[in-house]
Amino acid sequence: MAKITASVYTSHVPAIGVAIDQGKTQEPYWQPVFEGYEFSKKWLKDNKPDVIFLVYNDHATAFSLDLIPTFAIGTGAEYQPADEGWGPRPVPKVIGAPKLAAHIAQSVIQQDFDLTIVNKMDVDHGLTVPLSLMCGQPEAWPCPVIPFAVNVVQYPVPSGARCFALGQAIRRAVESYDEPLNVQIWGTGGMSHQLQGARAGLINAAWDNAFLDRLIADPTGLSKVSHIEYVREAGSEGIELVMWLIARGAMADVAGGPAPKLAHRFYHVPASNTAVGHLILENSN
Ligand code: DHB
Ligand code: FE
Repeated sequence: MAKITASVYTSHVPAIGVAIDQGKTQEPYWQPVFEGYEFSKKWLKDNKPDVIFLVYNDHATAFSLDLIPTFAIGTGAEYQPADEGWGPRPVPKVIGAPKLAAHIAQSVIQQDFDLTIVNKMDVDHGLTVPLSLMCGQPEAWPCPVIPFAVNVVQYPVPSGARCFALGQAIRRAVESYDEPLNVQIWGTGGMSHQLQGARAGLINAAWDNAFLDRLIADPTGLSKVSHIEYVREAGSEGIELVMWLIARGAMADVAGGPAPKLAHRFYHVPASNTAVGHLILENSN
């Protein structure tokens, strides 16, 4: 059977992608950000999955106000990088895992989550920046990726509790797949940031660090945090953090297994308009 072996959490700041693509990672502003991922790049090489289930949000690239799926699973064979603002990033195309993705869609929909199935879409910085942070600049990404897009851009957005329950359904779906695949689930976006309005530039390091503490040790309690608290404490774009609860909900302890091992924790301010947060949690198998 397939297994979820680890979860990775990371911010997706678009300017990080530009810093990588333009060779600026060693500049004084960026160096401390990338240093926080040195461990992670080695860890991913040592713990290479067969498939990454990558929870992210699209920023009006593949979707727009014309069509707003709350939860969309990519069942395609491949996805081209695209982006708003700086244009498509010069990164490898993303190879999908259609068979496993179709199985997860079937299982999760049968568990009463109404996913949108997407066979064709481009992927923006929400998906490619986490891959770049964890993999550097390879010729090809190390394994197939199932893109899982969550609407955290246009209200109404899903609650943390809904996302946490969805993660549990994804875990059951993966574990009912009849091939011995090593699957990682990544939750991306965040941390506190607000890109618009009177509070533009908001960063709340104390709240972010409490979020990291609770994501590790009290995910069930954390899943009950309301939208209004995310917006008040972490800014309008801080709501991206509900995506981390999908990945956390897929970990073994939530289904009665042992607590995960914290392999890595990193936090840095600033990167563009946000705080960068990053965790790696391993399931003990
Ligand atoms: C920034 C952060 C984001 O999450 C995003 O989607 C766009 C911009 C920023 O910090 O500039
Ligand atoms: Fe974003």
